[in-house]
Amino acid sequence: MRALARLAVTTLLVAAPLAAITITTVASAAEDPAPIIVLTSDFEDGTVQGWSGRSAETIAHRTAVTHAGTGSLAVSGRTATWQGPSLDVLDVFEKGTAYTISAWVRMESTSDNARLSVERRTGGVTAYDQVAGNTAVTAGGWVNLTGRYTLATDVEFLRVYVETASTTGSFYIDDVTASYVPALPVQTDIPAVRDAVTSFPVGAAITGAEIVGDHGALLRRHFSSVTPGNALKWDATEPSENTFSYAQADPLIAFAESNGLAIRGHTLVWHNQTPAWVFTGADGQPMTATAEDKELLLARLENHIRNVAGHYGTSIAVWDVVNEVIDENQSDGLRRSSWFNVAGLDYIRTAFRVAREVLPDAKLFINDYNTNVPAKRDKLYALVAQLRSEGVPIDGVGHQMHINVSWPTIAESEAMIQKFIPLGVEQQITEMDVSIYTSSSENFATPPAERLLQQAYVYRDTFALFRKYASEITSVTLWGLADDNTWLDTFPVTRKDAPLLFDTRLQAKSAYWGVVDPSKIPPSPSVSASSSVSASPSGSASPSGSASPSVSVSPSGSVSPSGSASGAAGCAVTYRVTGSWPGGFQGDVKVANIGTAAINGWSLAWQFTGGQQISQLWNASITQSGAAVTTTNTSWNGTLTPGGSASFGFLSSWTGSNPAPAAFTLNGKPCTLL
Ligand code: XIL
Repeated sequence: MRALARLAVTTLLVAAPLAAITITTVASAAEDPAPIIVLTSDFEDGTVQGWSGRSAETIAHRTAVTHAGTGSLAVSGRTATWQGPSLDVLDVFEKGTAYTISAWVRMESTSDNARLSVERRTGGVTAYDQVAGNTAVTAGGWVNLTGRYTLATDVEFLRVYVETASTTGSFYIDDVTASYVPALPVQTDIPAVRDAVTSFPVGAAITGAEIVGDHGALLRRHFSSVTPGNALKWDATEPSENTFSYAQADPLIAFAESNGLAIRGHTLVWHNQTPAWVFTGADGQPMTATAEDKELLLARLENHIRNVAGHYGTSIAVWDVVNEVIDENQSDGLRRSSWFNVAGLDYIRTAFRVAREVLPDAKLFINDYNTNVPAKRDKLYALVAQLRSEGVPIDGVGHQMHINVSWPTIAESEAMIQKFIPLGVEQQITEMDVSIYTSSSENFATPPAERLLQQAYVYRDTFALFRKYASEITSVTLWGLADDNTWLDTFPVTRKDAPLLFDTRLQAKSAYWGVVDPSKIPPSPSVSASSSVSASPSGSASPSGSASPSVSVSPSGSVSPSGSASGAAGCAVTYRVTGSWPGGFQGDVKVANIGTAAINGWSLAWQFTGGQQISQLWNASITQSGAAVTTTNTSWNGTLTPGGSASFGFLSSWTGSNPAPAAFTLNGKPCTLL
């Protein structure tokens, strides 16, 4: 798992500032009704309630150790880790419905990891779906395993079961439930995303369950492209050597083709989700950088690409040929994956060469995350430039864009796109989602309204940027269809996230309106907040009734700069606190050109003297280092004509007192403070 190298600003947002915004124009996420429970096994009636072992192990009702009440189920006499209690749910689960399955587990005397899964069979072929992954369980207490499960295909056999990872110790289960929240009808009275965004196709990453039922309907209605989220990865397509399986991917590709959706193939070469056999040498040992191992590895790579890309032929016209090969912390910028360690750069060269041979007309991409981070971006740029100059057929750069509500700035995303323009490559946004979390320590039971609004602004502004660069960007894909199924629920930590355009019940969020019609959301935090917090011309802007600290920052001169800055240059700055509450405040800054020449590109700097720390800023980009703040224009407000001005807003923390900055400089020169 990679580190969460995503937080430009680590200060947590305080919840108060945007509370003043009334979201009247956009329906907030539909409130979840009570779940409908379709299965309860509480073992309170003295029986095993239909549970049985998966083979010869012993299943028995118990009263000595229970999670609640007087009964539980015990499994003993296990001779393999996969043995455990299992229940037939063939008549319980319906295809296309998203169930939450929960079970309590406790070991009898040993410790292990337990997991919850579903075994299913179609046409005699068995498959296993993990519902809740390995979770540490001991004899000391009950541990809950919970996960979501949607059956995507017709089945003749369907059982839920619990197993352990490494030992055959006896264990108990209790209070097993399965429930679902009834779906809401897919909205038909709102514009389709694909009709509202016409500059490029908009896609969604999907798993098997998302082509059936309401999910399939939502997908068809709004999107013009799909990316199988896992089904084309190596572990799915070639789980053992030269045994190819398209069982996961074929239904998704068939769905896309029959509905006229474009398909992004993801991905032919990656360091994750690649079986261990790929990197195991002929001697059964892990490969090293020997000539023999390299030859074998590249032969396997070639065989894989010929089979997988060849299987779909022209149906998949865009491939992420290699994924996440950059590590900006290496001086050469190259990730030390097994691929690289054994084959050096030749694995990338081979992958593109073979893909081009198999698919002469497909667009071949190199895909990576954090490409908005300058160091990463520049290392990727250098690699693509080098390989293309060698003749390696790289057609495009994929920017994953797993971002969050406060990171990165639009300016950083713009620099990301601009960087690759001189290379003459296509650019695609391949995996966009906008987490509501700004640090891995946050955890919300339900997404806070102000985060959803911030998210809507991010989608609005980022899609505006994409539209501005429509001649460069040939596709934008979201990494998921709706918030009921997002990889961010378990990455980088397990917690409910809500990073997409549709909520857990498939209804349009403010984020959707940010993409489709931003007039349906309040124009910006500063505008909305200042209309509900008195736009005080004479000082304190604290919301009435708050335990207000003595903040008094005035646009009318009560905090005047001490001498030097006054009247010094062709710029004038107005600094206002538009809202304040214990620990936090919202500020508004206006910079005006009072000279006679246009200013093209500006950088406005000041020092805080009270330890204030900005957590979010809009309509400019920011770097803050200790007390020193530097803000820079966005792409659209960089020109200040004589008499013209630009404004931006921000949220900041404060403690003790909140003195206004005493001086501002514009492009290094002092400004008049109004
Ligand atoms: C993720 C999938 O969405 C998850 O279901 C899976 O468990 C892990 O991989 N970058 C990528 C994608 O290139 O392939 C990853 O997809 C998300 C990060």
